Amino acid sequence: MSDTIKDLGTAELTFDGKTIILPVFEGSEKEKAVDIRALRKETGMITYDPGFMNTGCCKSDITYIDGEVGILRYRGYDINELAENCEFVDVAYLLVHGSLPNKQQHTEFSENLNSHSLLHEDMRHFFDAYPDHAHPMATLSAMAVSLSTFYPELEDSSIQENIDFKVTRLLSKMRTAAAFAYKKSIGHPIVYPHHNLKYCENFLNMMFRTPVNDYQVDPVVATALNKLLILHADHEQNCSASVVKMVGSAGANLYASISAGICALWGPLHGGANQHVIEMLERIIVEDDGDVKRVIERAKDKNDPFRLMGVGHRVYKSYDPRAKVAKRMCKDVLAKMGVDDPLVELAQELEEAVLADDYFASRSLYPNIDFYTGLTYRAMGIPTDMFTVMFAIGRMPGWIAQWLEMRDDPHGRIGRPRQIYTGPTQRSVN
Ligand code: CMC
Repeated sequence: MSDTIKDLGTAELTFDGKTIILPVFEGSEKEKAVDIRALRKETGMITYDPGFMNTGCCKSDITYIDGEVGILRYRGYDINELAENCEFVDVAYLLVHGSLPNKQQHTEFSENLNSHSLLHEDMRHFFDAYPDHAHPMATLSAMAVSLSTFYPELEDSSIQENIDFKVTRLLSKMRTAAAFAYKKSIGHPIVYPHHNLKYCENFLNMMFRTPVNDYQVDPVVATALNKLLILHADHEQNCSASVVKMVGSAGANLYASISAGICALWGPLHGGANQHVIEMLERIIVEDDGDVKRVIERAKDKNDPFRLMGVGHRVYKSYDPRAKVAKRMCKDVLAKMGVDDPLVELAQELEEAVLADDYFASRSLYPNIDFYTGLTYRAMGIPTDMFTVMFAIGRMPGWIAQWLEMRDDPHGRIGRPRQIYTGPTQRSVN
């Protein structure tokens, strides 16, 4: 971890006649923090912060977000620039290693991705045991933890395996597992990875080739997929990354930790929102007759549990920079592919209504990444219940980078929040 922490002096906390002194510091982008590690020891008090709205759990070199302005950078590079100029595998390398790969590093990383892309043949049979309607996020999570059973050396931290093997194995095999899960769900034979295809092209080929078609990867679709996966690749201490790190902090292996992260991402308030956005738009057409006003009123009604999916974010209090790229891309890809989807028009109408409404403005609620990504996945032929799987494939390098940083953090300890107990005081069964 780079040493960019600046000492800003101290803050005082006074309670019950006693004052304690707490160190204050700032990071490389001037975010300030009070170091409260001594709080409980010195005062007997803990902090109370449900949802970790104000809790910094680590110092990190990986991703920077300014939610007020709408900035997202991986290792210092702006998300727009990365999406415009890089392939997903280069961004994966960047997140894991801290710098973009040179030509030789790119070649080696790609070769590792290629050589690790097969699943053990025994794993292929795991897919048969799931019902056809199994959600692919459940299957993917099960496959991630299953993968760890084939590599028992993961459990032995004394074995210094080349980190790129661990990383590319996971990136590559999870992509294969995702495509196999899809093929199983539609009753088609699986398509094995192909050594001549790059990372995204290989995935598309495994998804869409069949014995009775001559599927050729459309370069527009492959480029779009690269960009989408880059947009998903990391988002600092979000829910799933925190889960990955929490599980890892107990000493669980990387693949088991990521299996847990996949489950967290599946939730509709997190990555699962991309599936729910499309389902919401479809319902607006079928059940609300395309009446956006009615939907907006429902979202604002505190007696109605309905929320606009793809809107709002814990950190962004301005337009999500990923959503900006995703919106531009969505229009571009659909135009290039000649796809005319009525849901796109509806999404735009809904967005305009959100931006014009004081309820959303006063709460700083804007479209987030999930608002437009699903529409592009849909145009690419990816089925709705695979959208969050796409997010998971994209987020894989971020989870890995966060897990590795957690493992190597000299201040790292098992994650173990405290609580304020509010149940009955001691009582007796007699
Ligand atoms: N529709 C209607 N009202 C909303 C919405 C929404 N989508 N999101 C937040 N609000 C309201 C909420 O009711 C609350 O109002 P009030 O102050 O009157 O009680 C206020 O805005 C603050 O909301 P919150 O739930 O306290 O905010 P949070 O930071 O805890 O939640 C969120 C963030 C993303 C879970 C939430 O905005 C949400 O549920 N959005 C819809 C789901 C979604 O799109 N999730 C994807 C997030 S981006 C991708 C990712 O990171 O995984």
